[in-house]
Amino acid sequence: MRVLHASLECYPLAKVGGLGDVVGSLPKYLTDLGCITDVILPFYDNEKVHHLEYEEIFTGSLSLGENSFDFSIRKLLSTEFGFQIYLVYQKELLYRPDVYSYEDDTERFVAFQLAVLNWVLSEEIKPDIIHCHDHHTGVIPFLVSQVDTFQSLIDIPTILTIHNAQYQGQFSYDKLDYIPQFDLHNIGLLDWDHCINPLATGIKCAWTVTTVSPSYMEELQHQANGLEGLLTHEKAKCIGILNGIDHDTWDPEKDPMVIENYGVKNIVSGRKANKKWLCEEYGFNIEKPLFAFIGRLVYEKGADLLPDIITEALHHLDVNILILGSGNAEVELKLKELKETFPNSYNTYIGYDEKLSHIIYAGADFLLMPSRVEPCGLNQMYALRYGSIPIVRRTGGLKDTVIDIGDGGFGICHDKVNVQDVYNSIKRGVEFYNDQKYYRKTQKEIIKIDHSWNNSAKQYIELYKSLKQPQ
Ligand code: ADP
Ligand code: GLC
Repeated sequence: MRVLHASLECYPLAKVGGLGDVVGSLPKYLTDLGCITDVILPFYDNEKVHHLEYEEIFTGSLSLGENSFDFSIRKLLSTEFGFQIYLVYQKELLYRPDVYSYEDDTERFVAFQLAVLNWVLSEEIKPDIIHCHDHHTGVIPFLVSQVDTFQSLIDIPTILTIHNAQYQGQFSYDKLDYIPQFDLHNIGLLDWDHCINPLATGIKCAWTVTTVSPSYMEELQHQANGLEGLLTHEKAKCIGILNGIDHDTWDPEKDPMVIENYGVKNIVSGRKANKKWLCEEYGFNIEKPLFAFIGRLVYEKGADLLPDIITEALHHLDVNILILGSGNAEVELKLKELKETFPNSYNTYIGYDEKLSHIIYAGADFLLMPSRVEPCGLNQMYALRYGSIPIVRRTGGLKDTVIDIGDGGFGICHDKVNVQDVYNSIKRGVEFYNDQKYYRKTQKEIIKIDHSWNNSAKQYIELYKSLKQPQ
């Protein structure tokens, strides 16, 4: 069985958030289970991509309306990732420093998908299944099932994994000519609410749709940014498979990014060394419990609540708070300004820093995730793996992975999205922290929980097998 994953992100070559982590790790576990797994992503103009060597294995051209673009497929020569990676080099549209947020994202995403399928059409690679990730690749299931040029690929099963249904990639009908010729009777497959909606298209056309946790699958039937009805209608082919994490990259015993490595036996001293570094770097008192947040500063993550949460907590509780993130400009500004109000108990790093994120998982006592929407969430699993207690709102994947200490579990959970509930959870965190014996015992238990892909990769293999019976 050979599966081709098409994605805009794949750690470490391109990562904006959890999509990069998933596509950079699931394939390795699938390969270990005997499934030949390839990943294709754009060739970006970034340091990580430049650092490696490639062989050009295919050249072609694609059209977007009247404009045509040459592209090539580059095969990564290194085998260090445990699966094969291919990259689409396209100078005008894809060879850019960032993954998202360009004005011509529609053109970029469609071009990527057309390049992938032109290459597959050449039979240079013969996948048994094409596994698409998010709306950026949502048109692929339509193209293989409807477009005349790709007729010969029609028997290749397609899977669409929804990592986040908030983003759907809609574009208007002026750009319909980006889609190569197809039977216009089927135009409804592209449409949602009078727009071309790649996520809706993928949901309609993929053979199977997966979401990144079972609870998120349930939630999408009621709240999916306008696609609730569609997801309810397509329920029979949808399945929620919980994400896993890469236990090799995220291993406190071997992680080269942390200040001091540790395992169950030396968890107290190892975590203390990491906390000490954070406290020195950010001006905190090491005796106080340290609460941290890592993530995109967006509404979905509850980032807009952070300034008030920090203010409320630091007015009433003797704690330290550290925020690592970037996103909404207004939230970034408020977070920076708060440094003056609480100079010795609060700090923030606005930006993206992979190494710092690892040290925070290894050194902060608690990790805050006040998410409004969290399809899976990887941060809470990294926190558990490193012995930091997650404080989460019960939603999506957070609900599926964190059990409250009051219910015999190891985390702190609340139900509502508001400052008061998060504040109450932080207060519970302080009480928990003060009971050092119980707190330490819990830390030793959580770092042993197996949230690796071992389980979920098997579920994907079963799914692949159900779609592709041996000939
Ligand atoms: P999402 O994909 O919605 O952003 P996830 O919890 O699935 O959320 O994954 C987020 C990933 O991105 C984690 O690996 C997290 O550590 C990382 N991350 C997010 N923001 C930052 C940042 N500012 N610096 C470093 N890593 C970050
Ligand atoms: C999305 C979701 C996040 C999930 C990640 C990986 O970015 O917001 O919850 O963990 O994808 O699937």
